[in-house]
Amino acid sequence: MPSTDALDPAARRDLLDAVGPQGLISDADERSSYETDWTGRFRGRTPAVVRPADTDEVAAVTEVARRHSLALVPQGGNTGLVGGSVPLAGELVVSLRRLDRVDDVDTLARQVTAGAGATLGAVRRAAHAAGLRYAVDLAARDSATIGGTVATNAGGINLIRYGGTRQQVVGIEAVLGSGARIDHLGGLLKDNTGYDLAGLLCGSEGTLGLITRLRLRLVPQPEHTVVALVGFGSIDDAVAAVATWHGAVEDLESAELVLDGGLRLVMDTYDLPSPLPRSWPAYVLVEVAGPTDPTDSLAAAVDAATGVGDVAVATDEGRRAELWRYREDHTLAINALGPPHKLDVTLPAAALAGFCDGIGRQVAEVDPAARTWLFGHVGDGNIHVNITGVAPDDERVDEAVLRRVAELGGSISAEHGIGTAKRRFLPLVHTADEIAAMRAIKAALDPAGICNPNALLPPA
Ligand code: FAD
Ligand code: MLT
Ligand code: ZN
Repeated sequence: MPSTDALDPAARRDLLDAVGPQGLISDADERSSYETDWTGRFRGRTPAVVRPADTDEVAAVTEVARRHSLALVPQGGNTGLVGGSVPLAGELVVSLRRLDRVDDVDTLARQVTAGAGATLGAVRRAAHAAGLRYAVDLAARDSATIGGTVATNAGGINLIRYGGTRQQVVGIEAVLGSGARIDHLGGLLKDNTGYDLAGLLCGSEGTLGLITRLRLRLVPQPEHTVVALVGFGSIDDAVAAVATWHGAVEDLESAELVLDGGLRLVMDTYDLPSPLPRSWPAYVLVEVAGPTDPTDSLAAAVDAATGVGDVAVATDEGRRAELWRYREDHTLAINALGPPHKLDVTLPAAALAGFCDGIGRQVAEVDPAARTWLFGHVGDGNIHVNITGVAPDDERVDEAVLRRVAELGGSISAEHGIGTAKRRFLPLVHTADEIAAMRAIKAALDPAGICNPNALLPPA
C-alpha cells in the first residue's frame, strides 16, 4: 500500500507541473489545518497539500500519484467526524475546495450543478435565490463541501422528509483512482442504463476516486415553517411520540432528540436562557413545513402524545433559529470539553428507547471516567453517542457501544461514515463476503490503491 513520508523531488516537480505553484502548499504552518480533523482527535502529517483548480488538474494529480505511488486523501471542508479526511499515514492531501463554482439554477428541471468544493451553504443559498431549496442541511453547512457531503452520503436534519444525500444526486463527475473519468451530469430522472456509478461514489469516502462536480435535485421552498421544542417525562415517551408523529404529522421535516444533560451543557457553554419553564429528562425538537400553516396540526399531534411537559413554539425565523441552537450547538459544546469519541448509530425502532436508557451505564462500566452524551436524528432512528473523558486512542468504549448496537441489529454508522475511526469495526455489520465485494470494487476502480487507502475498508 503506497504511503508518502516525504515527497521526493521528482514527485514534487510533477505535482508543480500539474497544479502550478499556487496549487501546492508545502509550508508546515499552512499545512497544519489540513492535517487535523474538526474534533482534534485525529492528527496526521502530510508532505504537501495539493489544491487543483479544475477537473483536468484533479486528473493530472491522480496521474502523478499513480506514477510515483503516492497515497492521497481527498479533502473538502474537513468537517468529517470519523478521521477519514486527514493524512494519518503521511498521505498527500488533495483539497477540492477550489472547485467551488455553482452554476445557474435550472428552475425548469429543478436542479443545479455545483463544483465539489462549493460549500453546502453556497448551494443552499443559490437554490434559495432561485425560489427552491437543496434538501440536505446540517450544522456544518458553511464549511462542509458538497463533494464531501456526497463522499460521506451525509444525512442531516431533513432526511426524515427528503432522504439523505444519495437521494439528491442526479448526476456526477469524478476522476477515479484508475484515472478513468466519470462524466454523467445530465440529470435525467429516469436513467436505467447499467450500474449506478453516482450511487456507488456516494458514501465511498474518497476510496474510489475524487468527485469533482455534482448535479443535484432541488425541492420547493415551503411557505410556512413551525418549530416546537417539546419536553417529555422520559426518553421512552419522547421516542414513542416521534414514532406516532411519523405517520400522523404531514410535512414533518425534522424530529431531533435532546436530553437534559446536553441541553444544560449548551445553556452553560453559550450562556443561553432555559427554553422552557421547567427542565425535562428528554426533549424533541420538531419542525414542520408546508404550503399551509402547520401550527394547529402540530399542536394537535403534540397534545395527543403521552408524557408531554412544557412546549415552546416558534413560527418566525429568528425564534426558530433560537430553538434550533439548543440542538445544533451540542456538537460545539461537547467538543469544548476535549476531543470526544463520536459514535453515530442507527437502531431498529423497537430497540431505540431501551438503547438510549441503558448505554450510558454500559459505557461507565467500561470506563468510569467516561461521560456519555446522547442526541440526534431520532426520527430516523439515528442517535449520536458522544463520549468525553476518554483518551483519543483508547477504543474500549467505542467497541462496547458498537458491539451493543450490532447485537441489537443496528448500524455502526448512520450518516458520518466509517473513515479510519470505525474501519476495524466494519465486520460487526457486514459479512466477510460483503467486505470482499467492497474490496473487489475498490480494486477495480482504484487498482493502484492510491485513494484514501487507510479509510473505510478494514485493515487487511
Ligand atoms: P471532509 O471532512 O473534507 O471529508 C469527508 C470524507 O469525504 C473523507 O473521507 C474525504 O476523503 C472524502 N471527500 C471529501 N471531499 C471529497 C471529494 N470531492 N471527492 C472524494 N472524496 C471526498 N454529518 C451528517 O451526515 N449529518 C449531520 O447532521 C452533520 N452535522 C455536522 C455538524 C457539525 C458541526 C460538524 C462539524 C460536522 C457534521 N457532520 C454531519 C459531519 C460532516 O459535516 C459531514 O460528514 C460532511 O459531509 C463532510 O463534508 P466535508 O466537505 O467537510 O468533507
Ligand atoms: C449532528 O447531527 O449534529 C451532527 O451529526 C454532528 C454530531 O454528531 O456532532
Ligand atoms: Zn447528525
